[in-house]
Amino acid sequence: MMIYSKILGTGSCFPSKVVTNKDLENIVDTTDEWIVSRTGISERRISDGNSTTDLGYSAALKALEMAGIERECIDGIVCASITQDTIMPPLSCELQARLGLESKTLAFDILAACSGFVYASATADSLIKAGIAKKILVVGAERLSVMTNWQDRSTCVLFGDGAGAAVLGESETPGFRSFDLCANGSIADLLSLESLGTRFFDNRKNFDIENNLIKMKGNELFKIASRAMCSSAEKALRLAGLKIEEIDYFVPHQANLRIIEMAAKILKLPMDKIIITIDKYGNTSAASIPSSLDVAIRDGRLQKGMNVLMASFGGGITWGAACFTL
Ligand code: ACO
Repeated sequence: MMIYSKILGTGSCFPSKVVTNKDLENIVDTTDEWIVSRTGISERRISDGNSTTDLGYSAALKALEMAGIERECIDGIVCASITQDTIMPPLSCELQARLGLESKTLAFDILAACSGFVYASATADSLIKAGIAKKILVVGAERLSVMTNWQDRSTCVLFGDGAGAAVLGESETPGFRSFDLCANGSIADLLSLESLGTRFFDNRKNFDIENNLIKMKGNELFKIASRAMCSSAEKALRLAGLKIEEIDYFVPHQANLRIIEMAAKILKLPMDKIIITIDKYGNTSAASIPSSLDVAIRDGRLQKGMNVLMASFGGGITWGAACFTL
């Protein structure tokens, strides 16, 4: 019998501190009008003492509650983050300890920036299909505000903090139907965060943190983001044997509303079939897709039996897509 993996529950958590575009007007030379018209973002949440683990833990508890399973049923934790509290231990191990599941689960992190949740879901799906685990907590959690250069108006207006989680469990019915994962390391310099790597520490006498926070060539990325997401989305649809008309909702990575609108045009999807959360939360990297999924499940748009397409694009450069039935 074919074994699939299925999303059994989702959760999300955002810090309570709201930072509006007007607030940013006091920090950098920008305007609410510029940010809304160029990105679709009106406000974002910024950590007010919450660590990445705190955010991920809270999202994980909500996902377990929605799945209706005790935490002891989890036998795997796969996290995606570029802003974990420490390089070692990884976020997954911190969460495992916080959940009181010591020595009871596998646990590791995936580094694929904004594409992290798609990559982590594909990994969890493979582990379940291979019989290595039966129920895996997949968490995307980020505190990008710490890695943001608050003097750089072209990036600091974009990002927000938050977390999203999903419990994936084995199922006799689909479930995840397809994945497409891709990357192009030769254009990695379009989006970088160098302050955590050993290359940065090679030069430890001359630490220059501010110049090694998130850097982005936004305009160049913009040109390839929607095309890359859409080619992955089309491939995932083909692999799943689904037509775009059979998709009930598209959950894209929330990097820029204009990128999402362009993707909608390419995929020939009406905007009312697309889950948008960027206006309230900005770009939360690996947390953007799982938290958007959770928002739309809890407000009743996404329901059991629906076909969902998700697609992402981010640092690396990485991108990917997946089709699944809720
Ligand atoms: N307020 C006012 N003006 C600004 C701001 C700001 N916050 N930021 C930039 N500008 C100015 C620029 O200085 C430039 O001015 P100039 O013409 O005088 O030089 C002008 O606005 C236009 O700048 P562009 O960079 O061309 O603006 P663009 O329309 O491309 O929007 C943005 C910038 C929002 C960053 C866009 O390029 C984008 O969203 N790119 C893709 C982001 C993405 O997909 N990232 C990947 C995922 S993120 C991750 O993985 C963590």
